[in-house]
Amino acid sequence: MTLTDDKLIELDIESLYVHIPFCDSICFFCDFVKVKKTSDSEVEDYLKKLENEISLNENYLSKIKTIYIGGGTPSCLNIECTIKMLEILKPFTTKVEEYTIEINPEKVNEEKLKIYLKYGINRLSIGIQTFNNSLLKKIGRIHDNTQAIKVIKMARVLGFKNISIDLIYNLYDQTHEDILTDISFIKDLQPDHISWYSLILKENSIWGKLKNNLPENDEYFDEVINRELAHLRYQRYEVSNYGLNKSVSKHNLSYWTNKQFIGVGVGAAGFLKTNKGPILTKNSGNVLSWNQSTEILSQEDYYLQIIMMGLRLVDGINFENVADGKAAFEFFKTDLEKHLDNGLLELTKTGLKCTKRGYEIMDAILVDLIK
Ligand SMILES: C[S@@+](CC[C@H](N)C(=O)[O-])C[C@H]1O[C@@H](n2cnc3c(N)ncnc32)[C@H](O)[C@@H]1O
Ligand code: SF4
Repeated sequence: MTLTDDKLIELDIESLYVHIPFCDSICFFCDFVKVKKTSDSEVEDYLKKLENEISLNENYLSKIKTIYIGGGTPSCLNIECTIKMLEILKPFTTKVEEYTIEINPEKVNEEKLKIYLKYGINRLSIGIQTFNNSLLKKIGRIHDNTQAIKVIKMARVLGFKNISIDLIYNLYDQTHEDILTDISFIKDLQPDHISWYSLILKENSIWGKLKNNLPENDEYFDEVINRELAHLRYQRYEVSNYGLNKSVSKHNLSYWTNKQFIGVGVGAAGFLKTNKGPILTKNSGNVLSWNQSTEILSQEDYYLQIIMMGLRLVDGINFENVADGKAAFEFFKTDLEKHLDNGLLELTKTGLKCTKRGYEIMDAILVDLIK
């Protein structure tokens, strides 16, 4: 994003997403932009290009409050590359409140975690997927639950106060007992935050090319997970995200509450409000070279995005805090009123949200808005 032609109409950009596409091995379910890491020099070249892209954006990064280094597997970088990556980002960290890195259990040691801490990273997002070792093998992971437990405990001892874990449910061969086992590990380990997504089958993943249908336990597992996590005092605040003691992902909240963000690196996306209208940016290409395309959102698509993202939150769309939230509601009022009448949506003192029943069948609400 160079913004040479477009002018920002809201100057505050609070969030930066940095994509590191390298992985040590490729999981069967994954459709994200990633490559198997072949050499350290390939990573060094990538970081040079990333540095260049960031320098083109530096005027817009002085007020950044959240940074999210995602992937791919940022933790598969060697120590030198890890330091290089964090040095590139260091000038933009002065006002940062939440600084997250995604890590996989197999390649993290004390030295790397200490480096993360030294550079101000205060939140870890650890890709666990499941604590069942045979299931981990079946989904193509190269870690086991001993490594997962070790990294969580090590991070705690070293002083990380904000630890999130990623899990997936509705995996092939996953049973009710597997879900309860994952819950019992959560009970013991007490991560501050959990992202627990249902398996998504996308055509570009290994499974997407091999399998035709998802397993059928989706709704049942969803119910079990919500009930059991509530027993453990995890508060569901977004469809697939839960926090202990009000822990939330501030970075992801910026996506769900219509805030601007910049994305750098191959595969990264951004969202900016410019004099030409709201724009989505998308970096396409490969690790050697990528280009940014921009799409100006029509008014309808912009408002649809606000409603679709906002209703994912349990508290819904707060008209005072979500820019254009009220306007988006007014735009789709006719379609939304039907669901206010049938009890799937409700207007609160501050905005619009799904009722308990509406939240479980949100797609039924959204489908009416997409014509
Ligand atoms: C793309 S990965 C990147 C971070 C890291 N490499 C890892 O494996 O955790 C981020 C998270 O996305 C989730 N994910 C990836 N593909 C998914 C899929 N097809 N369905 C559901 N969740 C998925 C996984 O839980 C994963 O931890
Ligand atoms: S899930 Fe994570 S480790 Fe697995 S292929 Fe995707 S990005 Fe790489």
